[in-house]
Amino acid sequence: MGDVLELASVRVVRGTTTMLDDVSWTVKEGERWVVLGPNGAGKTTLLQIAGARMHPTSGMVGILDEILGAVDVFELRPRIGLASAALAKQIPEHEKVLNVVVTAAYGVTGRWRESYERDDERRAFALLDAWGMSTFLNRPFSSLSEGERKRVQIARALMTDPEFLLLDEPAAGLDLAGREDLVQRLTGLAEDPTAPAIVLVTHHLEEVPPGFTHALLMRDGGVVAQGEIAEVLTEEHLSKTFGIALEVTRHNGRFSAVAR
Ligand SMILES: Nc1ncnc2c1ncn2[C@@H]1O[C@H](COP(=O)(O)OP(=O)(O)O)[C@@H](O)[C@H]1O
Ligand SMILES: [Mg+2]
Repeated sequence: MGDVLELASVRVVRGTTTMLDDVSWTVKEGERWVVLGPNGAGKTTLLQIAGARMHPTSGMVGILDEILGAVDVFELRPRIGLASAALAKQIPEHEKVLNVVVTAAYGVTGRWRESYERDDERRAFALLDAWGMSTFLNRPFSSLSEGERKRVQIARALMTDPEFLLLDEPAAGLDLAGREDLVQRLTGLAEDPTAPAIVLVTHHLEEVPPGFTHALLMRDGGVVAQGEIAEVLTEEHLSKTFGIALEVTRHNGRFSAVAR
């Protein structure tokens, strides 16, 4: 009860690569998770599974009280907001910002489009406004800065009012000001009691927003540690995860790591 995601002994194998190796993990309502690990650890693969975009080679995946493999994924996907580089690549160059967000609704409504267009546009506008993008509605997506694109992608992921939000490296490619702005906005989202359960993937400790409650550490497709953030983001666990002796500090809710 209250489980948003349940993975039991999940394995994903492609050719000779084991991308996920015996991963068991539960995300409950209201939890805000960070998933950390080096490049190639399997973070994106994990999110593809959690977002019902990929099926495991073996193991059990439960998402929002449905079992992957026994549910129509086209009904499940709109209940999960996802922002990732792969998805951003699919956005046509000249698509206007408002349309990038509003089109996320068409999969779900499944009703006669015209009567819902207004409400959809209103919701898309409200989300863009909340993410600081209200003056960019008619700008082509391709003309935005990296930080602006990231905010539009998160607004798009929230368009369907999802019960589960998955963000794959939303701070990648941002400059320092852009990163700090995003961390602040994600902190606000984490603290919003009406926000869905959140999983945020990153490989930088500095990008962990205050207010996030849990952490999952991955290496070579496997789980190094998982649980409440204070118990998981330790020097011991993080050094093992990244394969380097780290000194970890926490100041005002923000983490940082440097080599020892
Ligand atoms: N389609 C694929 N076929 C085989 N191996 C893949 C495929 N996609 C990714 N991989 C490999 O799976 C591993 C995990 O990748 P990924 O989930 O993207 O890691 P991360 O997001 O943590 O960087 C990597 O070793 C990667 O090279
Ligand atoms: Mg990745």
